[in-house]
Amino acid sequence: MKERELVVSKIREGTVIDHIPAGKAFLVLKILRIDEKTKETVSMALNVPSKKMGKKDIVKVEGLFIKEDELNKIALIAPNATINMIKDYEIEKKFKVKLPEIVQGILRCPNKMCISNTKEPITSIFYIKAENGDVIAKCHYCGKKIKKIAEFLI
Ligand SMILES: Nc1ncnc2c1ncn2[C@@H]1O[C@H](COP(=O)(O)OP(=O)(O)OP(=O)(O)O)[C@@H](O)[C@H]1O
Ligand SMILES: [Mg+2]
Ligand SMILES: [Zn+2]
Repeated sequence: MKERELVVSKIREGTVIDHIPAGKAFLVLKILRIDEKTKETVSMALNVPSKKMGKKDIVKVEGLFIKEDELNKIALIAPNATINMIKDYEIEKKFKVKLPEIVQGILRCPNKMCISNTKEPITSIFYIKAENGDVIAKCHYCGKKIKKIAEFLI
């Protein structure tokens, strides 16, 4: 029965972000600034059964070539994500994101008094650590720790 077939067209050239923790695909779209204005083909799969993860999300974006900053942001919220770069419908390159040890200018400090939040143009700097499965960021300037990373992405 044709109506019952699920057809998601393959992408010719672009990026597949796989092994995203279930529920985090929306955040990945936000990081990639994909919204109702996006013209490229985007597909998203939520709560897909996965041997490794139980359930996972997947995001596929035609014409996307992920930038370093975007990779670092994705690593912070999806430390086990796999990036598949597609060319001519085939996977040209596959790699896992890597949790950066230090990030600059991609997180904002929750501490209003922090020097990184004053009018001076100071780029935020955070040290990143994985603590029993959770990603923790610590401000270089004031020492404030962030546990809910997604809330402080710039
Ligand atoms: N041309 C394409 N368009 C859209 N998605 C693609 C394309 N080629 C591969 N993919 C997707 O990329 C992901 C990785 O594909 P692959 O065939 O390597 O699967 P896998 O063997 O399960 O990989 P992994 O070991 O990383 O889980 C899958 O989600 C697959 O659907
Ligand atoms: Mg797989
Ligand atoms: Zn701070």
